[in-house]
Amino acid sequence: MLKDNFNRVHDYLRISLTDKCNLRCSYCNPVDLPRGYFTNTTKMSSEEIDIIAGVFVQLGVKKIRLTGGEPLVRKDAKEIIQRLSKYPVELVITTNGVFVHEFIESFQQAGIHSVNVSLDTLKRKKNLSITRRDEFDRIKQNIDLLLKNNFHVKINTVIMKGVNEAEIPDFVGWTKDQPVHVRFIEFMPFAGNQWSNEKVFSHSAMLELISSKYGFIKLPSEKHDTAKKYFVPGHKGTFATISTMSQPFCGSCNRMRLTTDGKMKNCLFSNNEVDILGALRSGLDIVPLIRQCVWNKKEGLGGQLSPAYEKIDATKLENRSMINIGG
Ligand code: 5AD
Ligand code: SF4
Repeated sequence: MLKDNFNRVHDYLRISLTDKCNLRCSYCNPVDLPRGYFTNTTKMSSEEIDIIAGVFVQLGVKKIRLTGGEPLVRKDAKEIIQRLSKYPVELVITTNGVFVHEFIESFQQAGIHSVNVSLDTLKRKKNLSITRRDEFDRIKQNIDLLLKNNFHVKINTVIMKGVNEAEIPDFVGWTKDQPVHVRFIEFMPFAGNQWSNEKVFSHSAMLELISSKYGFIKLPSEKHDTAKKYFVPGHKGTFATISTMSQPFCGSCNRMRLTTDGKMKNCLFSNNEVDILGALRSGLDIVPLIRQCVWNKKEGLGGQLSPAYEKIDATKLENRSMINIGG
């Protein structure tokens, strides 16, 4: 079992398969950073991912999420999915949805039941301006395809004030006839993503806006939920908020991350990383490194962000960009 200094058990590992993506979402892709600043030179092979994941499973990991960049752009994504399917864990994935139609069977064979798809607007033109690529129709088709094949589909919607907050009620409207589970995510600061506290549309502002159009009921939360879940009576789907900035949920955090270059991060906002891949390649035992990394976890927000997000100076943060960490 992996425990930190605050007695939190860590049993959920998020593995980034690549820092490449076929889309260019502004909140994820860094701007104004020197070329090559974040380019990973080494990358875990499918075999190395398998071995490292196996060690985490032995240490008590019960859930593994594949992330990116966009995990499905990796040429050996199917092989990795298949390799990881042998472990007794809940295997899930976060994707931008563009290549999902090529992976339905691969997901089914690996026992992946739940897929998170990123989609920040229900408007084609706006989607082009947020992602810089014209893939809206394909993404919508692939969401329908997942639903048709009985996957549990969560939609990750990053809300940025002045960009898409007005669409929140439309997303809730989408849950009426489709069993989609939309999660409104507060905009978070990462290297080069032009975050400012004025662009955060908070959990309470979201609920207020929704209540002007819909009556809704809170759903019970499970221990490690990052999402606060709700439903509108009569709707097939649900909605949720992920209030990382206005109401962080670090107290019940059970997550660890592995970047595509094999560095372990004990928090999305941590500024220190442990080189698991390097140790593995040198023939060292990675177990003590993993244990120590978990143990060193800070109480909240990587020890970097003050809980009052209104006071954060994003220029002082030491972190990678989101695309380079893995969502
Ligand atoms: N703030 C909030 N959420 C983000 N994501 C990526 N960058 C950010 C950010 N700056 C989300 C995307 C994706 C998930 C992996 O992380 O919605 O679905
Ligand atoms: Fe790609 Fe996802 Fe980042 Fe958008 S948020 S650029 S889809 S990795």
